[in-house]
Amino acid sequence: MTSTVPTRLVYHSRIAEGVDAAELAAIVEASRNRNRTAGITGGLVLYRGVFMQALEGDSVAIGDLFLRLLDDPRHEAVTLVQLAPVAERTLPEVWLSLLDDEDAVEELLARHDLRPPFDPRALDADAMTRLVSDACLARAYLLD
Ligand SMILES: Cc1cc2nc3c(=O)[nH]c(=O)nc-3n(C[C@H](O)[C@H](O)[C@H](O)COP(=O)(O)O)c2cc1C
Repeated sequence: MTSTVPTRLVYHSRIAEGVDAAELAAIVEASRNRNRTAGITGGLVLYRGVFMQALEGDSVAIGDLFLRLLDDPRHEAVTLVQLAPVAERTLPEVWLSLLDDEDAVEELLARHDLRPPFDPRALDADAMTRLVSDACLARAYLLD
């Protein structure tokens, strides 16, 4: 990798109609492989149809990925929360963790003092990054 400006991408979106557990597993499997190749780390949380994702990597790789994400019909209403250089990468070193178990996400939300009804628009970039970061640790897929 030539460019080395660490960049963070944080967004939320809504899962598209018809995306089932098998399709979600396929997204995560393919994404892990791509992220490993691109040196991108981060996590994905799915709660009641809302995706929250935080990723870190080289600025070019992250920019390219964001453009592909915007075009991906498997989710909609992609809302950018942060796309910015960071002094250092802070997300756990996982290629892409997924936390989608409703009870586990509710425990996580409670730990972050987020009470129902949950609205991702209430979270700023740092709060969403912390939440996804914590979710990565709840489901650790270590780098190999
Ligand atoms: C919620 C969600 C999260 C995704 N996360 C990633 C990811 O972390 N890395 C990745 O390469 N692709 C991710 N994708 C898939 C990309 O949108 C895209 O399909 C993939 O990078 C392949 O792009 P291409 O079909 O244009 O080659 C995600 C898709 C969705 C719906």
